[in-house]
Amino acid sequence: MTQNLVNAAIKAAANAYAPYSNFHVGAAVLLDNGDIVTGSNFENASYGMTLCAETVAIAKANSDGLLKNIVAIAVAGGPADGVAANAEAITPCGRCRQIIKEVADLTQRDIPVHCARADGYDSYLLSELLPHGFGPANLK
Ligand code: THU
Repeated sequence: MTQNLVNAAIKAAANAYAPYSNFHVGAAVLLDNGDIVTGSNFENASYGMTLCAETVAIAKANSDGLLKNIVAIAVAGGPADGVAANAEAITPCGRCRQIIKEVADLTQRDIPVHCARADGYDSYLLSELLPHGFGPANLK
């Protein structure tokens, strides 16, 4: 099951638009009905406007009314010819961790984050990747 989600992230990286970094990233979010929504990084000539794969996948799910249904996410990245080929997995950037936190707070689920590498994947909980994060509770 988790390997399917990781494979979907690896596959999604093939659709990355990353002509500037040549670093292709794919993300796959798992929904509570078993469906998977994918995303890939979308770069821009104005570098800082780049959208990460995780953010794209979560925004896609949201735009279909499925934000509350997200239960897990997988991410895979690397050069076009070697996505997830490294011994060490890539983990979501800081901004993406904050985006995933929004889902965790909305759903009251400590979202599992599966990070692809050459021989499988490393799994974390969002709370491990973003301890003491800022969220809706801080706005009270
Ligand atoms: N990238 C992602 O898509 N997700 C991450 O969590 C880390 C970085 C993208 C952004 C940029 O297009 C490329 O990887 C290199 O930083």
